[in-house]
Amino acid sequence: MANNLLLFVLIALPSVIYADKLLSVAACQRGGNYGTGTIKEVRITPCPEAAQRRPCILRKGTNVTIEVDFEPTVGATDVTGRAFWANRMLELPLPNMNTNACATMTCPLQPNVAQTYRYVLPVSRGFPTRRYDVRWKLTASPFNMCFQFPIQILN
Ligand SMILES: *[C@@H]1O[C@H](CO)[C@@H](O)[C@H](O)[C@H]1NC(C)=O
Repeated sequence: MANNLLLFVLIALPSVIYADKLLSVAACQRGGNYGTGTIKEVRITPCPEAAQRRPCILRKGTNVTIEVDFEPTVGATDVTGRAFWANRMLELPLPNMNTNACATMTCPLQPNVAQTYRYVLPVSRGFPTRRYDVRWKLTASPFNMCFQFPIQILN
């Protein structure tokens, strides 16, 4: 029994080691807040670059998991999650996303109750190879949250 537990811990460990806390998360508006929620932590897996405070490198043909721990200040049902390639001028929505954010959260959201939103993003070979800001929005009127972080896409 104890041996089985140890085995389980050893097998489960790598996903813990490679889940890196993202340090350079910003609100979408300069000097603004994230919206009707408080972000506690954003993790990208894998992203060993986060330890050096560098943008995560997303390799084409792999899956990258984004997890956001947050606390909404208002309740919400049917939350929509969308990601965008963003710069100062425009936002391009990421195609073919599953926009049902409640698929990974406990909906309806309750005010001041911690939540984790999780999204597995397949890094398409069609994505341009370059550095970007990714802007992520969770919305369900009146709930809204928006944050962004830099990434680097590589082959
Ligand atoms: C990425 O995730 C999808 C859906 O879960 C899965 O079908 C696919 O095999 C995964 N790809 C890789 C490279 O892990």
